[in-house]
Amino acid sequence: MNITFFLKFFSPEFAHSLSIKLLKIKPKPIFKKDIKNIEMLHQRVFGLDFKNPLGLAAGFDKNAEVLKQLLDLGFGFVEGGTATPKPQKGNSKPRLFRLNEDEGIINHLGFNNYGFEIIRKNLNNINLNILRNGIVGINIGKNQSTNNPYEDYLKGLDFLGPLAHYVVINISSPNTPGLRDLQYRGHIEKLAKLLKEKKNDNEKLISTPILLKISPDLNDDELRDIALCSLAMGIDGLIISNSTLNRPKSLKSKYKDEIGGLSGKPIFIDSTILLKKMYSLTNAQLPLIGVGGITNGMECYEKIKSGASLAQIYTSLIYQGPIVVDNIIKQLISCLITDGYKNINEAVGKEV
Ligand SMILES: Cc1cc2nc3c(=O)[nH]c(=O)nc-3n(C[C@H](O)[C@H](O)[C@H](O)COP(=O)(O)O)c2cc1C
Repeated sequence: MNITFFLKFFSPEFAHSLSIKLLKIKPKPIFKKDIKNIEMLHQRVFGLDFKNPLGLAAGFDKNAEVLKQLLDLGFGFVEGGTATPKPQKGNSKPRLFRLNEDEGIINHLGFNNYGFEIIRKNLNNINLNILRNGIVGINIGKNQSTNNPYEDYLKGLDFLGPLAHYVVINISSPNTPGLRDLQYRGHIEKLAKLLKEKKNDNEKLISTPILLKISPDLNDDELRDIALCSLAMGIDGLIISNSTLNRPKSLKSKYKDEIGGLSGKPIFIDSTILLKKMYSLTNAQLPLIGVGGITNGMECYEKIKSGASLAQIYTSLIYQGPIVVDNIIKQLISCLITDGYKNINEAVGKEV
C-alpha cells in the first residue's frame, strides 16, 4: 500500500499540502530512489545535461520548497512555480477536483504562491553549483492585479532566473484572465523581444535558456505565429502543453463541468497531436518538452517519438504516487531497446 492510497481520503488541496509537508520531512525509506543515471537516457538539451528525460511539471511545487526532494524521486529535472511577483492567494475554494474515473484533474487555482521574494530564498537554498542530481527550472507568471504583464515576466527573469538552470515563461494557464492573450500575434513578439533584451542585459543570465509554455487550445494560425516568433527571437524551447479548457466527451466524472484547466489521461491524445504539429512547424529546430496525460513509459516514449526531447508529468504523480517515476523510466528504456536505439535522442521525432 503506498502513500497515494492514504492521500485519497483527503480533499485534493489538503492532500497536496500534506505531500509537500511529507517531502519536507523526507523519510528516506519512503521517498529516496536511486537517481536514474543511465547512459542511453543522457542528453544535452538547450545547453544543459539531462540524466534522464522525465521531469516534474510546474504547479506541484509552486513555491520551490521541495525541489531537491522531488529530484530524489528519480526525476531528471523539476520545475518550480508558477511564481508571481507579489504573493497571491489564488481563486476561492474549492478549486481543485479529482476526476477519479477519468484519471484527470480540473483546477482553477489561479497562481496561488508566496511571491518572488520567498521563492527566491527557497531557490537560493538549493544552490545549483553543488546540486549533482538534476536540473531545476523555474516557471514564472503575472499577478492577477498587474497593469503591466510584460514587467512581471521581466522581473521574474531578472530576479529568479539566475537561481535556476532554465526559466519558463508561462503564458498559457487558463485561470488568470488575460494571460493567454500574450500568446497571440503582436503580444508574443513584444514579450520575446523584451525577454531577449533583459537576458542580454544581465550577465548572470547569459547561459540560462528561456522557454515558453503554451496552451493546448490554440488554433493552427496561432501555433504557426508562436513557432515563427520563437525561432526568429531565439527562444530556447517550448513546453507543450498546459491544461485545457476543452472537455472531451469521454469524461465520466461528476466534476467534468467544473471551471478550470483539465489535465491527466484525458488530454494525452490532443496534447500529443499538438506536439507533432509544433515539431513540424519549427522544423525540428527547437527543443520541445512534451507534457499532458503521460501515465506510463510507453506514453512517454510516444511523446519523444512525436518530437519531444524531454517530457514532464504532474497528474499521474497524484494518481500513482512516486513509484510512477521509476515505472516510466524502466518502461521507456525497454521501448528504446526494443526499437534498437542506443540513445534517446535518436528517437526524437521519429513518428512525425
Ligand atoms: C493542480 C495543478 C496545478 C498546476 N499549476 C500549474 C502552474 O502553476 N503553472 C504551470 O505552468 N502549469 C501548471 N499546471 C499544469 C501542469 O504543469 C501540466 O502542464 C498539465 O497538468 C499537463 O500535464 P499532466 O497531464 O501530466 O498533468 C498545473 C496542473 C495541475 C493539475
